[in-house]
Amino acid sequence: DAAERGDYRHFMLKEIFEQPRAVADTLEGRIAGAHVVPESFGYGAPEVFQRARSVVLVACGTSYHAALVARYWIESIAGLPCTVEVASEYRYRKHVVPTDALFVTLSQSGETADTLAALRLAKESGFAATLAICNVPESSLVRESDLVLLTHAGPEIGVASTKAFTTQLVALLLLTLALGRAQSLDEATEAAMVTILRTLPTKIEAVLELDARIAALAETFVDKQHTLFLGRGEQYPIAMEGALKLKEISYIHAEAYPAGELKHGPLALIDDQMPVVAVAPNNSLLEKLKSNLEEVRARGGQLYVFADRDVPMSEEDGVTVIRLPETDDLLDPIIFTIPMQLLAYHVAVLKGTDVDQPRNLAKSVTVE
Ligand code: G6P
Repeated sequence: DAAERGDYRHFMLKEIFEQPRAVADTLEGRIAGAHVVPESFGYGAPEVFQRARSVVLVACGTSYHAALVARYWIESIAGLPCTVEVASEYRYRKHVVPTDALFVTLSQSGETADTLAALRLAKESGFAATLAICNVPESSLVRESDLVLLTHAGPEIGVASTKAFTTQLVALLLLTLALGRAQSLDEATEAAMVTILRTLPTKIEAVLELDARIAALAETFVDKQHTLFLGRGEQYPIAMEGALKLKEISYIHAEAYPAGELKHGPLALIDDQMPVVAVAPNNSLLEKLKSNLEEVRARGGQLYVFADRDVPMSEEDGVTVIRLPETDDLLDPIIFTIPMQLLAYHVAVLKGTDVDQPRNLAKSVTVE
């Protein structure tokens, strides 16, 4: 155990720091020149991608959050309608199967009972094809799906998923580009995005350098009972993932909201005892997010804003700004995940919880 952890105090920290390599390994062999190789998804994948008229993504836990990010990409880049649902809900409701729909499951283990049951249901209910994005090659999910893209994260031991999540996002970007090219995405746009994707391991290295800063920041969270995570657009699922990480391993109640919904309820909770974490890359929604954050400030809330280097936002009383290295918008959900993982990790360490084996949770939930 100690030998495998190397110099790291916990598997979770080791796995956070393995992400540049895990991401590079997941890209390896899936890109030729400036293009995604559609056959990476399996024999017959190019035809399946051409035929697809919509995509349904189903998963649980952290994998579900990856699916939620992908919905933004599949609709905006590949131009296909996309729905996302947690497997435990999907499997127990009557649903309409759209014509020529691709059914995609996401799972680190490939053995999650609800996800597997949803796949089996989908295979009986008339989907055009099934695809699994999974980290375990010999898993049931992989064996039972028509198409497969393996994430090459390597074994993940910490119950709280980290490198499996970011490699799922990489796999989903590859899927988005392969699907997009089979639809209406032009070659030059794909090439530009692939070029950006290739920079990801280096960008993750750079953001990991924030570790000490975030460890210091964690001290302000240790004695808190509740926290709120805010994001907009594809950063909303990243806020959800940040909240999930914190609650899983530090046992602090954490909730995520799309920032525009603040005024419809959570603003009532804001006081100086509830830290508010915001994920704020410099994208088209930044101005909207800033006015949402003003609403928090005006009510005495303590803001911790994770922002791009060039976001015009200043530190003032009650506002802490943590600057991230510059990246392209396409990579932001992956880049902004890293400080969320580090924050949860350091808060949990300070609280003295069992970081790799949090109470009541299992790495893989193979029963219902
Ligand atoms: C459990 C784990 C989570 C994981 C979820 C889905 O709840 O504790 O970390 O995200 O299962 O697992 P899967 O293997 O299907 O991704």
